[in-house]
Amino acid sequence: MSNAELHQRRQQAIPRGVANSLAVYADRAVNAELWDVEGKRYIDFASGIAVLNTGHVHPRVKAAIAAQLEKFTHTCFQVTPYESYIELAERLNEIAPGPTPKKTIFLTTGAEAIENAVKIARFHTRRSAVITFSGGFHGRTLACISLTGKVQPYKAGFGPMLPEVYHVPFPSAFHGVSVDDSFEALAHLFKADVDPARVAAIIVEPVQGEGGFYIAPPELLRRLRTLCDQHGILLIVDEIQTGFARTGRMFAVEYSGVEPDLMTIAKSVAGGVPLAAVVGKAEIMDAPLPGGLGGTFAGSPLACAAGLAVLEVIREEQLLNRAAHIGNFMTSRLKGLQVRFPSIGEVRGLGAMVAIELVKNGNAAAPDADLTRSLVQAASRKGLILLSCGVYANVIRFLAPLTISDALLKEGFHLFEQTLQEVADNVLAAPA
Ligand SMILES: Cc1ncc(COP(=O)(O)O)c(C=O)c1O
Repeated sequence: MSNAELHQRRQQAIPRGVANSLAVYADRAVNAELWDVEGKRYIDFASGIAVLNTGHVHPRVKAAIAAQLEKFTHTCFQVTPYESYIELAERLNEIAPGPTPKKTIFLTTGAEAIENAVKIARFHTRRSAVITFSGGFHGRTLACISLTGKVQPYKAGFGPMLPEVYHVPFPSAFHGVSVDDSFEALAHLFKADVDPARVAAIIVEPVQGEGGFYIAPPELLRRLRTLCDQHGILLIVDEIQTGFARTGRMFAVEYSGVEPDLMTIAKSVAGGVPLAAVVGKAEIMDAPLPGGLGGTFAGSPLACAAGLAVLEVIREEQLLNRAAHIGNFMTSRLKGLQVRFPSIGEVRGLGAMVAIELVKNGNAAAPDADLTRSLVQAASRKGLILLSCGVYANVIRFLAPLTISDALLKEGFHLFEQTLQEVADNVLAAPA
């Protein structure tokens, strides 16, 4: 069956609301390579949206899932619990940033982790309001779209949103927004809109993912910590996209030295198997009553087995170092390209969480979503899978598996350079 035939069937059977960035239908994948149903090979710089820090079907992860499959696939932790859930929770409690004792609950998706973090924060503080950041992305459930700071396509038409959710600007040097600007907005919010004594939590991504890979200056997180402590507000750090070695640290918040009250994790935690978690200060995590938290599939035995294997792979293959190496390679090559292609307005990255922002005439206020779309499509024709992001859909994010070989990294990057040249030549050749 061809990509075109599958795409035809997909359009008949599946609603348009689940958008596909490429009409490339996967057949099989290994580490950083993927083959489509027509046998065409791709280098994967998307990692299924930051899920495959340990690559497609890592042999250790595969073996752990296979061993668990021989025992049982599901009992529901709330009915007959099992050791792997406890062991993975113990490991995450140990590695979570900060000295305060931690506890962990497992869920299935990132959105669910966010939902649960908000529930726990509300229960613990007995307050209801939540503050998040413009451009932030926290998932697609009703509470999560309320927290998400991007209207199209996530919020529009799905209202009403959760009440008492407030957004403040996220810093970005490229767009002239400073940490002071964010704090002025918070101060104004507390004057004009909401009593800080009603605020249960502030939720922040250490690097905005879907929003465009804007990196929180460590000062933002430190000042948020102080502000939260002043007002008895909980600081929830969303590490769903940034976690598990992606940024060169296990968790990106470590760059700031801040200890979150609650941390949400998902995506790369289990090497491609659905798993999410909230890790937090034990006293806060213990607030909701028995039965108030959980889920039928939450912390599935297959996912917990995979999660334990992922932690081993990160340690044994020194993926923190690999992330720094991949990040240095990418940012230096992209900065070289920036000199030749003024459409690349900014190159930014933290470890292997790297992006370029594409703009017209080097103007930060003129996002170039068309160019971004063309690059993603043209790259796929050359055999490179790229992902875009950004509130204005003008950012390309590079999320190669951290287990990618240097040879494949270079080959993938070469394909990107060729794509950029080709698309630029086409634009120049197009009639005005
Ligand atoms: C920072 C962040 N939070 C939450 C989510 C939602 O996760 P999920 O799609 O697993 O529900 C995402 C997904 O992209 C994310 O990047």
